[in-house]
Amino acid sequence: MIEFTIDGKKVKATEGEFILPVALREGFDIPTLCHHEALGSDGRCRICVVEVKRGSRKRIVTSCLYPVADGIEVSTNAPDVMLVRKSVLELLYARCPEAEVLGHLAKKYGVENVRYSKDHDKGKCILCNICIRACAEIVGVSALGFSGKGMSKKVTTPFDEPSDTCIACGACVVACPTGHIFMKDDKGVRTIWKKKFPLAQCPECSRFHAPVEQLQYISKVTNVPLETLMVCQDCR
Ligand code: SF4
Ligand code: FES
Repeated sequence: MIEFTIDGKKVKATEGEFILPVALREGFDIPTLCHHEALGSDGRCRICVVEVKRGSRKRIVTSCLYPVADGIEVSTNAPDVMLVRKSVLELLYARCPEAEVLGHLAKKYGVENVRYSKDHDKGKCILCNICIRACAEIVGVSALGFSGKGMSKKVTTPFDEPSDTCIACGACVVACPTGHIFMKDDKGVRTIWKKKFPLAQCPECSRFHAPVEQLQYISKVTNVPLETLMVCQDCR
């Protein structure tokens, strides 16, 4: 068992844990954007920074990827922490001024004037990588990836074309912290990642309930007959 302090409070953790989950468990308020319960963290957004003091040495670290250690003193709100967090938020907000979550965080952490010119061509995407990881690690189809470099880097399907592997499950939409990904169900068709997918119509209640390609995929990996899956969950 590891013992250390967060904002002066003694806390316990197990070896190998990172600071962030311990702090959240103990009720501390640390903002995150690229941390996902099922996927862990990727260290991309940098707003989860905290100060770690070891002996006389202090460092600003990303709490989601910094392992706990005996005797460290963690501060979630030291002046340097707030300064770094504010600077990171200012950059993210300049990149995605339409992202409501960034607007809320910017306000909460006192970003009043954004010193950088605002982008209006990035949508709400902060390149956090959660959608790509959710698609690969939770769903298991790897339909998404990054393309381009620098300012033109973006999340997309291979060659920016409608994907053959995407099953339109919408896991990326649910996981995205900023609401960047467009998905729409209309008249039995789901549109996502520039492709239209037919929705299965329940033979019992006639409700459109899930993309046919998603049901085919589930049937393939679980061996549940497709006819069973075509019936919606309410009617099963
Ligand atoms: S689309 Fe959403 S989840 Fe994917 S990288 Fe951009 S912000 Fe993150
Ligand atoms: S939550 Fe730690 S870097 Fe994003």
